[in-house]
Parts: sequence; structure tokens; C-alpha cells
Amino acid sequence: AGPGAAPAAAPRERIIVDYGGANVAKPLHVGHLRSAIIGESLKRILRAVGHEVTSDVHLGDWGLQMGQLISTLAIERPDAVYFDEAFEGPYPDEPAVDLAELTALYPRASKASKEDETRRDLARKATAALQAGRPGYRALWKGFVDVSVPVVRAEYDELGVTFDLWKGESDVQHLIPGLVDDVAERGISEMSDGAVVIRVARDGDAKEIPPLILVTSEGSAVYATTDLATILDRKETLAPDRALYVVDQRQAQHFEQVFRAADKAGLAAEDRLEHIGFGTMNGKDGKPFKTREGGVLRLRDLIDMVVERASARLEEGGVGRDLDADERADVARKVGIAALKFADLASPRTTDYVFDLDRFLSFEGKTGPYLLYALVRVRSLQRRAEEAGAPAVETAEIVVEGDPERALVLTLA
Ligand code: ARG
Repeated sequence: AGPGAAPAAAPRERIIVDYGGANVAKPLHVGHLRSAIIGESLKRILRAVGHEVTSDVHLGDWGLQMGQLISTLAIERPDAVYFDEAFEGPYPDEPAVDLAELTALYPRASKASKEDETRRDLARKATAALQAGRPGYRALWKGFVDVSVPVVRAEYDELGVTFDLWKGESDVQHLIPGLVDDVAERGISEMSDGAVVIRVARDGDAKEIPPLILVTSEGSAVYATTDLATILDRKETLAPDRALYVVDQRQAQHFEQVFRAADKAGLAAEDRLEHIGFGTMNGKDGKPFKTREGGVLRLRDLIDMVVERASARLEEGGVGRDLDADERADVARKVGIAALKFADLASPRTTDYVFDLDRFLSFEGKTGPYLLYALVRVRSLQRRAEEAGAPAVETAEIVVEGDPERALVLTLA
């Protein structure tokens, strides 16, 4: 949008766009990519038409992965002060693990908790103890967050994706006890197998919507709990007219449960909360994109791969021979990221699409590189016009002078 955004077609609204959704200590993966790209576009478009938009990354920093990390460290480093219940602090300022250690620790911890029931139980208990405020666990947790968040930020920066709020699930935990009491008082929640649940199924539901778990039998808050508490927090701090959640379509049921529960609990009207789901980015085999070894592809590796291929394409096409190595690398990065973003946005949002780098990076057709190329040409026309004495395009008024111009403007409109 140019200076002075266009007037809103609808009344100006205060809108929260919840996207990104990176998880602390776990690497960003390709599933987070679409959320970042689509969410960022929505934010910019809604702003351009005049709405007041707040973007929130809503970091996953409070779930079971934290208990998995803590309980694994407790086994590997039993003598560390964090596990000494008699220790009165202060805990070291330095995080217990550095980035390399944390990166290696998470897969180990997650695997153990998946494969071994005892370990899963320990992870659950550690999660509950962390949430209950055990000081050593809090200190460890803070270290994980401090090590992990700068990396997440750098990756979003590289994609040109920025957030107004860097809040996480942990930021609303102080609201949870009150929320749990409040829904109990209103008679909305009930006990089921030791857990506190909210029933959200309705007559006429096409498929069964299971109850939302508010507190597990271990006494932990889970994903839905923090989402509900976040709705409460946003209501109190921002009073939004609407909230949009740009998250994988596979979480549709979760949001259905949360939105219904939020409505029942008087936190927000259900029609003011919207899940903007999206399909997955698949490999050529039609399954969610994986590494050659079958693992989850990290966003970092995906970006590197795209930039590398962009660089090779530029080389082949003889583009930028006159540039020095740094400039060429910069162009390759821009072309690669444009290819990735454009391909994503050009695919229908709710359907899956196939990741096809050669197609994304084509210099012709509907691609990011083609769009960049067109932009460069337009800029060069502008530059030459200005050199020839035309007013600068940013300040020039558009005057429609003849029929061909009129036809062009109408077509564009
Ligand atoms: N951290 C979540 C995940 O990786 C996404 C969070 C989406 N936002 C939300 N408010 N639930 O799946």
C-alpha cells in the first residue's frame, strides 16, 4: 500500500492474527511455513484496507515438550542444581544447555517419551511440576526459552515475517486457575476420569466433537487450556473484534472445541473467532513433505535448499554476472524466498500442494521470480521516466488521459 492506506470497505475493526505458532526447543518445520506466509499476508492486507491489526506468534512454550526436556535432563544430569529440591537458589544465569545441546536434546527426549511409557509418565509429571511452579524446573525452562527464541526470530526475519506480540502459551498461565474456577462456577465444566472437561458437542453435529480437556488428570494445562486463557488475555488487553487463527487444517477440531468452549464461557462470541486452516505442502508422492530419510523437514534446511537452487538457476540463466559474490548471494536469497512464498500463496489455501522447486523457480509463468522480474522492469521504467523529467512516481498523481489509459485502469480495477 502506498502512503495513506485505502479506506476500509467495512468498518474499521480491531483484529488479531494468530500465526507462526513456532514451538520453543523444537525446530521450525515446513508445517510452520504456510502459517507464516499466509498469516503475514493476511496481516498486511487487513492493514492495507484500514483495519487495526495485531499479530501474535503464540509460541508453543508450555506443553509436554518442556516436561520431556526436563525429565530427560534429570536422568542425564541428576546432580545438576535444578533437580535438588533443597537448593534455594539463585540458579545460574547461564542456560543449562546451549543451542547445540538443546537441538540434540529434544529429539532424544521426544523419542524416549514416545517409545517408553515410564519416560512418558516422567515427562507428564515434570510438565505438571513445571506448571505448578517448581523453581528448578522454571529456571531450566527459562533457559530453554532464552536459547531457542532468538533462533526462531531469525528464521521469521529471513522470511520477512514480523510479529507485534511475541507472547507464548506460558504468558497466560496466571489466568488459568481463575478460568478453571470460573467455568466450574458457571456449571460449564465437569469431571471425567479425573480430568476437568467442557462438553462442546451439539445436536445436529455432522461428526462427533469430543469434550475439550481443560485440566488433565495430572493437573496440567494443555493446548486447549492455554488457547482459552489466551482468548481471555486478549479480551482483557486488546478487546479485539475478531481473532483469526492461521493454523494447519488438521487442527480444525481443536479450534472447533476451543471456539465453542470460549463462547460457552462468555470469553468471546464463537462467530468472532475464525480458524483459517490450510492444506499441507506435500512431496511428489502426495504425502507431507519429508526429508530423504523420512524425517520432518526443518524450515532452515528447506530455505537453504531453495536458496541454493535459486543460485544455480541464476547461474544457468547468466543473471547477475556483473555482481560480486555477496550481491549475487543476496539476489539468490531474495529470488528463492519469493519463489517459495509466491508458490504458497498461489495455491488454493485449503488444498494440499506439491512442492516442486523447478516449477517454483521458473523465470516464466506464475512464479515469484517472474514477479520480481516484472517489478525490476517497472522500476527501471520509472527510473528512466524520472531521468527524462517525469515527476517521481511516489508523489505523482495518476491522471487518466485517453481511452487506452481508461481501459487499462478499468481492467486493473
Ligand atoms: N504451536 C502450535 C503447533 O506447532 C501452533 C499454535 C497455533 N496457534 C494457536 N493459538 N493454537 O502446532
